[in-house]
Amino acid sequence: MSISNITPKIIELTKRKLLSNPNHPLSILRSKMYSFVHKTYPGVFITKDDYDPVVGVRENFDNLLIAPDHPSRRPSDTYYIDENTVLRTHTTAHDCEMLKNHNAFLMTGDVYRRDEIDSTHYPAFHQLEGGRVWNKSEFSFAAQEKAHDFALTELKGMLEGLARECFGDVEMRWYDNYFPFVDPGLELEIRWKDNWMEVLGCGVYHPQVLRNAGKSDDFFGLAFGIGLERWAMKVFDIPDIRLFWSEDQRFLSQFSATKGITKFKSFSKFPLCYKDISFWVPEKFEENDFFELVREVGGDLVERVEKTDKFSKGDKTSYCFRVNYRSMERNLTNEEIDELQFRLREKAVADLKITLR
Ligand code: DAH
Repeated sequence: MSISNITPKIIELTKRKLLSNPNHPLSILRSKMYSFVHKTYPGVFITKDDYDPVVGVRENFDNLLIAPDHPSRRPSDTYYIDENTVLRTHTTAHDCEMLKNHNAFLMTGDVYRRDEIDSTHYPAFHQLEGGRVWNKSEFSFAAQEKAHDFALTELKGMLEGLARECFGDVEMRWYDNYFPFVDPGLELEIRWKDNWMEVLGCGVYHPQVLRNAGKSDDFFGLAFGIGLERWAMKVFDIPDIRLFWSEDQRFLSQFSATKGITKFKSFSKFPLCYKDISFWVPEKFEENDFFELVREVGGDLVERVEKTDKFSKGDKTSYCFRVNYRSMERNLTNEEIDELQFRLREKAVADLKITLR
């Protein structure tokens, strides 16, 4: 594969650098999380927030033992710049680099994934990553035997503390989950407004990942990754992920570093307008290619894309999608939406080789 699948819209997003505005809700949340960790473990963690989101396939996948045929590597899921270079799909891409020079770190950054379109998915979002390792030789022989349990206990204690700091006194539960770069891998869920919600992934570093980071086999330790938007939507009461990218003062002026965490007051909700589009697809069709095209044409006016129908007739397959348009900032006119939908139809025919029905 030689051609990049990065669109102008994505390039624009890579330049926004939301986290460099200290009054942005994502930065306010980050400060709260960093302060908690520094207060609980004084002098232990260093922080770094300026890694470039362009990374090697090796850093994003290989070093982390993500299998060559893992679906997350496919160009339908990941933005490739060229065969060997991607927009990072997670901040874990920097763990090996961080561990080369430090034994404990926290870092944040923007990450990119091709995905569906709804109020909680956006092709760019932000993660906070942490890692901490210890050298076994600094422990007594008896303690060395239990190094693994020690890391797990530390991990759970730290992350439950961090979740409680941000979400208050909520119920929590731990789940096993598989991530190739840790063993075991775990997820933390919290009970939020009567629902269980997954809030982070974490685990004990796989020994091979530590070797890839240049650490000797004496080292062991813990890692975790947190989706900042997911936390921020709950703690600030922000209903739609597109709002984080808004430049509307009615959004931005509600937040400040000095005020800390405050509840978002929604400005009036503008009406929704939807349009359906149905088409036959060619043999090779990726839903994410269609979603990307909708983003390209409709930008942030698209709130959600629903697949409302899919059927096959002979060797032909048909899809129907409902595109929901809503601006967070103003009323949309019918003409404007008709025009967008018209362009979407034309571009889908030209770029995706679909046949409109
Ligand atoms: N990188 C994972 C993701 O984006 C999240 C994650 C899971 C990070 C486990 C970690 C970890 O450091 O140990 O889905």
